[in-house]
Amino acid sequence: MNARENKLFMKKYQPFIKWVGGKRGLLKQLLEIFPKEFNNYHEPFLGGGAVFFELYSKGLLKNKKIYLSDINSELINTYNVVKKYPHKLINNLENFKEKHNKEFYYKTREIDRKKEFNNLTKIQRATRFIYLNKTCFNGLYRVNKKRQFNTPIGSYKNPNIADKDVILSASKALENAIISDKPFNEVINNTTRNDLVYFDPPYYPLNVTSSFTAYNENAFLDNKQEELFKIFEELHKQECFVLHSNSDTEFIHNLYIKYQQHAILMANRNINSDITKRQKIKELLIRSFKDE
Ligand SMILES: C[S@@+](CC[C@H](N)C(=O)[O-])C[C@H]1O[C@@H](n2cnc3c(N)ncnc32)[C@H](O)[C@@H]1O
Repeated sequence: MNARENKLFMKKYQPFIKWVGGKRGLLKQLLEIFPKEFNNYHEPFLGGGAVFFELYSKGLLKNKKIYLSDINSELINTYNVVKKYPHKLINNLENFKEKHNKEFYYKTREIDRKKEFNNLTKIQRATRFIYLNKTCFNGLYRVNKKRQFNTPIGSYKNPNIADKDVILSASKALENAIISDKPFNEVINNTTRNDLVYFDPPYYPLNVTSSFTAYNENAFLDNKQEELFKIFEELHKQECFVLHSNSDTEFIHNLYIKYQQHAILMANRNINSDITKRQKIKELLIRSFKDE
């Protein structure tokens, strides 16, 4: 393989969904700080899995045990279906692609308000999950208090609902991964010395307002961040390589004061439509280990 082919080949392993907080634009900066040699890999806030797919593409996960998890059981079901039944999933998605319109979107969205949701197979649930992810507003996964999906339809002209190549290559990358739905603190049950653990939790908010706290049941505030900090420290004691992305806030900065904190810069697309006036937003990558 020449360098260009190699680059194209490497690019193939990538997330098969959009995910809020996805790390795709930051991979180069992040990976510079990751260790190049480690034992097994753990990613307990998996989301779209951008970091996992990048490490896999670079061959850094060869012959290692890979533990991927997230608390979102619909998301994890989808990963397991991509891993085990990619062809059936692609067929279903092609079918959904043909039917896609506003009415079909809302009909599909409403299924989790009906009894029939419990009768769907794992493959049907994964099809619905990817279809909604590709066609909803900004790929935003949002559920109400009854855990019913409630993101409105997005305004895409031609959404890529059945992305065959990406799903097949993701399936290959996931072939040997152990994928489970569980809370992050269970990561510690499978870690051993020299393992690499990457934490990418929901970020500590830049402004904690009372309305934010009251209405955002998914908020990952002081208590949860402190619980995560304890796990970070335990893993450090176990001599794992621990990395943790979070917001550049006083709370996070102070919590991890004794650890090395790297600034990661990202373009903020929302602030200004004029590229030259866009500001860079800073976030943190905290690590438990010193330079190799
Ligand atoms: C910022 S996203 C991860 C983004 C991901 N790195 C990517 O590139 O797409 C945070 C993830 O944490 C998950 N999550 C939230 N609370 C959790 C918990 N207590 N345990 C495990 N996962 C959790 C959410 O479901 C979400 O997928």
